[in-house]
Amino acid sequence: MPDPYPFIRPLLFRLPPECANNISVLALQCRLGRFLAGNAGSKTDDPILSQRLWGRDFSNPIGLAAGCDKDGRVPDAMLELGFGFVEIGTVTPRPQPGNPKPRLFRLDEDRAAINRFGFNSAGLDAVIARLRRRDRRGIVGVNLGKNRDSADATSDYEEGIRRAAAVADYLVVNISSPNTPGLRELQARANLQALLRRLIAARDRTSLAAPLLLKIAPDLTSQECHDIAEVALATGIDGIIVSNTTVARPACLKSRDARETGGLSGRPLFAASTALLADMYRLTQGKLALIGVGGVASAADAYAKIQAGANLVQLYTALTFDGPALIGRIKAGLVELLARDGFASLGEAIGASHTTRAGAGVTASPARR
Ligand SMILES: Cc1cc2nc3c(=O)[nH]c(=O)nc-3n(C[C@H](O)[C@H](O)[C@H](O)COP(=O)(O)O)c2cc1C
Repeated sequence: MPDPYPFIRPLLFRLPPECANNISVLALQCRLGRFLAGNAGSKTDDPILSQRLWGRDFSNPIGLAAGCDKDGRVPDAMLELGFGFVEIGTVTPRPQPGNPKPRLFRLDEDRAAINRFGFNSAGLDAVIARLRRRDRRGIVGVNLGKNRDSADATSDYEEGIRRAAAVADYLVVNISSPNTPGLRELQARANLQALLRRLIAARDRTSLAAPLLLKIAPDLTSQECHDIAEVALATGIDGIIVSNTTVARPACLKSRDARETGGLSGRPLFAASTALLADMYRLTQGKLALIGVGGVASAADAYAKIQAGANLVQLYTALTFDGPALIGRIKAGLVELLARDGFASLGEAIGASHTTRAGAGVTASPARR
């Protein structure tokens, strides 16, 4: 079946971006996913794309990034589109409305978006109730945040871990959204160390052993990167997601809304987030699982993230421009790229750019897989 998205997109793009997003989620709730993906989602994944990580079997490394299904309405419909895993959230402990609208801007000429949602969330009660109703066949991570008016960020994350551990295949501590005042300060060394120690203890108290990941911003100094890598290794978290949206505004942006306040995602984020991913791989010596996210819109982009050190890759903004058939195209392209370069498995390609690029010399350790 031909891809229907090129015909649907002009209609969606006439709507305000947040409304277009909501309609897409609604279409998935109405089980129109198969139709929207042009049937690409129903294909079985090539075994070369499979990977076992954190005791879970990923049939392919392409995941949906946080922010698209904030309230966990359609994780299974998203998985049916062909994603290897889906991250829902960010979820805050209590429901909150987020920032006033408009708060999402599509930058068409730049294949990018700027958002300042500010953690609009249905809250843990509603989201966990939805996730409990799943039959839990695919891999779903839950991305956790804090309420805007909370006086104690650590307690908010502890509550998220304690309550979401039973319904999540992995948990994400999101301290990198640019749209919640003061949040990114939790990435500073002393704050991060104290936070992660408490959160790992909270996770361990659940006795469910859900892997705990940290999601970081792309706007870090090299000292901050060093600090995060050291603290991540010392505290024993299970992985890092690199990266959230950026507050930077590259000079190349052409779209009318390029100066809107918020986090920039999509194509202009690719280079910076991939460079940070490579740095994190080097700084953590290949000992931590990494998820690469930021500007992925093709198989070549996903492959670059994997070679820079990502076990898994996520995307969101490109889905808005290219529709769900993109997922199948990326997976097919990845299979070709792995075969072209003589890799027998995805695992062999992880971090490969560090060993092939002169002077780098980091090898993928088995601990990452
Ligand atoms: C509209 C929108 C909302 C987002 N909301 C969240 C969120 O709630 N939590 C989060 O961790 N990341 C959020 N993100 C960031 C994405 O998960 C991802 O890190 C970022 O967009 C880069 O990937 P991309 O270029 O493929 O979109 C959001 C991104 C967009 C575009």
